Amino acid sequence: MSPLSASSVDATIYHLCLLTLYLISLPTFLALHFIQAPYGRHRRSGWGPTIPSWLSWLLMESPTIFFSLLIYPFGQFSSSLRSFSLLAVFLLHYFHRTVVYPLRLRRKTTSDFPISVSLMAFSFNLLNSYVQTRWISNYCDYGLDEWFRGRFSGGMVVFGFGMVVNVKSDLVLVGLKAQGGGYKIPRSGLFELVSSPNYLGEIIEWLGWAIMSWSWAGFGFFLYTSCNLVPRAMANHNWYLEKFKDEYPKNRKAIIPFLY
Ligand SMILES: NC(=O)c1ccc[n+]([C@@H]2O[C@H](COP(=O)([O-])OP(=O)(O)OC[C@H]3O[C@@H](n4cnc5c(N)ncnc54)[C@H](OP(=O)(O)O)[C@@H]3O)[C@@H](O)[C@H]2O)c1
Repeated sequence: MSPLSASSVDATIYHLCLLTLYLISLPTFLALHFIQAPYGRHRRSGWGPTIPSWLSWLLMESPTIFFSLLIYPFGQFSSSLRSFSLLAVFLLHYFHRTVVYPLRLRRKTTSDFPISVSLMAFSFNLLNSYVQTRWISNYCDYGLDEWFRGRFSGGMVVFGFGMVVNVKSDLVLVGLKAQGGGYKIPRSGLFELVSSPNYLGEIIEWLGWAIMSWSWAGFGFFLYTSCNLVPRAMANHNWYLEKFKDEYPKNRKAIIPFLY
C-alpha cells in the first residue's frame, strides 16, 4: 500500500470513530432515561458476574492511559509542545480516575460491579482515547493555531475548576460510604445545590477540554459525557427523593444548580 493510501485509510478509520462518538451520544441519552447502568445505587441482578468496583474502575479506564500513550508517539505532531500539553491534561484526569480513585475506593469501600458494564466502558474508553489522542497528535497542527494560547489557558481554567469539583465531590461520597451504614444524604459544598456535583464537575472538565482542543473530537467527548451523566444524575436525584422522602433538601436540583 502506498503511503498516500495508507494515510487515507487511517483518516477514514479516524473519521468513522469520530462519527461513532456522535452517533452513540443521543441513543445513550435516550436509553438512560429508561434504564440505568446497573452499578452503584442502581445495581440489580441479571447483568452477569461481578468484580470489586475498585478493580473495575482500574481496568475499564486503563485504555485512557495505556492506549493513549501507545498511539500518541505515532502522530506526526507528537513532538509539538502544544500537542503534548493537551495530552498531559487528558492524562492528568485519567491518572486520577484510573489509579488514584480506585486506590481510594479499595482502601475505603467495597462494592460489586458487573463485568458486562466494565466491558462496555472499556470499549468506549478505547474508542475515545483513540479519537482524542489521534486528533491532538496527528490530525491537528496546533503550531499553526494563533489562538491556541488563549483557548488553552481559558479551557484549562474551566477544566481545572471542573476537576476540583469532581474530585472533591467524589471524596465526600467515598468518605460517606466508608462510614458504613448505607447511603446517606451528602451535606457539604455543591451538594447543597445539586445531588450529583461529581458528575457536574466531570461535565465541566470536558467542556474545558473541548475549549482547549477546539475540535469536533473534544466537543464530541463533552457531548457524550453530558448524554451519559445528565440522565444518571436525574436518576440519582429521584432515587434520593424516593429513599429519603421529606428529609431530602427540597431546593436541591439534580445536576444544574437552580435549574435542573
Ligand atoms: N465520563 C463519564 O462518562 C463518566 C461516567 C461514569 C462515571 N464517571 C465519573 O466516575 C466517578 C464515579 O462515578 P459513579 O457513577 O460511581 O459515582 P457515584 O454513584 O456518585 O458514587 C461514587 C462513590 O460514592 C459512593 N456513594 C455515592 N453516593 C453515596 C451516598 N449518598 N452515601 C454513601 N456513599 C455514596 C458510591 O458507592 P456505591 O458504589 O456503593 O454506590 C461510590 O463508591 C465520578 O467522578 C463520575 O463523574 C464519568
